[in-house]
Amino acid sequence: MQPGRLGWKKNGVCVLLAGILVLGAAGCGEKNGDETKITPSVQPEITEPAPQPTEPAEPTRAAAAEPTEPVKEVRTNFYVSTLDEEIPSLSEAWKDYFSVGIALTANDLRNELKEELILQQFNSMTCGNEMKADALLDRAKTLSEGTENCPVLSFKSCDGMLQFCMEHGIKMRGHTLVWHSQVPEWFFMEGYSNQKDAVFVSREVMLERMENYIRQVMEYVNTTYPGVVYAWDVVNEAIAPGDGDPDGMRVEDSLWYQVIGADFVDKAFEYARKYADPEQKLFYNDFNTYEPAKRLAIVKLANRIKEQGNIDGIGMQSHIGMSYPSLDDFETALCKFSETGLEVHITELDINLDSNTEEDLMKEGKRYKRLFFLLKNLMDNNKANVTNVTLWGLTDDGSWLNKDGKRYPLLFNQLLETKPAFWGALLDDGIPLY
Ligand code: G3I
Repeated sequence: MQPGRLGWKKNGVCVLLAGILVLGAAGCGEKNGDETKITPSVQPEITEPAPQPTEPAEPTRAAAAEPTEPVKEVRTNFYVSTLDEEIPSLSEAWKDYFSVGIALTANDLRNELKEELILQQFNSMTCGNEMKADALLDRAKTLSEGTENCPVLSFKSCDGMLQFCMEHGIKMRGHTLVWHSQVPEWFFMEGYSNQKDAVFVSREVMLERMENYIRQVMEYVNTTYPGVVYAWDVVNEAIAPGDGDPDGMRVEDSLWYQVIGADFVDKAFEYARKYADPEQKLFYNDFNTYEPAKRLAIVKLANRIKEQGNIDGIGMQSHIGMSYPSLDDFETALCKFSETGLEVHITELDINLDSNTEEDLMKEGKRYKRLFFLLKNLMDNNKANVTNVTLWGLTDDGSWLNKDGKRYPLLFNQLLETKPAFWGALLDDGIPLY
């Protein structure tokens, strides 16, 4: 935190008088309405004496100083306490373009002040961890009540967040059904064994487990909280060019790939379509999507699943740095994904800034502004079909990046103050583009 920021409770708005004050000095231009006339060099002859005022004229200060153009207000204080002041709403500001989402943890919703801010700012939510396989798979119950091809799930981890969304009319991105990470190894083993000598189940059994897993998640969520989830990240991070697969699939650390084979993605989307509500959108989601090899592999995969009729969108996670990737590369990926005819969600946006000097926080604000400006321009020109932008966390201190306590990637700081990044995401005039 910067010194003195806590005390800045009022908006620092600088009023710029953009009009030019015209003084009627001899020999200079004379203002008449909006036009400036040149005083003729030969003066017309005066035939009558000018009437003398009987009383001293009222001072004409107001007329002389009146600006000729509207006053322009430019924000100069970017650190506004959201506890004390009303701030513009991101989801309201972008409502004609896309929904604006937030990834939360269950803890965020135990804080009333955060809850209020979330409701004011966002109309989409993602569970940061609470809907992942390691949170839902219940090994004890699977061993006692499950079968070899059907695990037992528990939804305690995400019930509160789904309930919150239902109560407040917020839509949720379901994150995530099939991912190589945050899924326990025992899920892939015969007898759900967690022993060192455990053996993988066959492809057939794993496909049944996958189908039963997807079915149970969707059935539970869609019957208990109908209409809340509008999009599912069906498969997450399945591409890792360099792992040796001809289509650029992740091989080395993916038990899904190792047990089922490369078509686990196709099968996951097939099952997801089978059990999803008709209006729910199915997404493939990945990081570093702007890397050319990854981008090409994602487009190929997405087109294949699209031909099968089982995908509606591509998620660009967008965990970006202060200078990498270039926004040109970001734009190329976004346009290529949009050219497939699928929707694009920016699913996990944050900027990995590791300094909190005034100067760097302002640079981060500029980068956010340039990114949102780019999204707007591409959409205005029908080059991109972005339907959601989600920030991966509410406050800097709660970010997944903040393992060392020195990261400032999000729009709000730990005091629930706005940062320049927030105003950048609103395209505020006070944040320069360059
Ligand atoms: O639940 C355990 C807890 O029992 C234990 O005491 C604690 C000790 O470290 O760890 C807890 O687990 C942590 C978990 O988050 C829940 O808080 C893990 O260590 C930690 O690694 C895990 O990090 C999550 C990460 O995914 C794991 O891959 C982040 O919070 C989460 O924001 C992040 O989200 C992913 C997206 O799902 C997919 N895209 C990338 C993104 C960032 O990695």
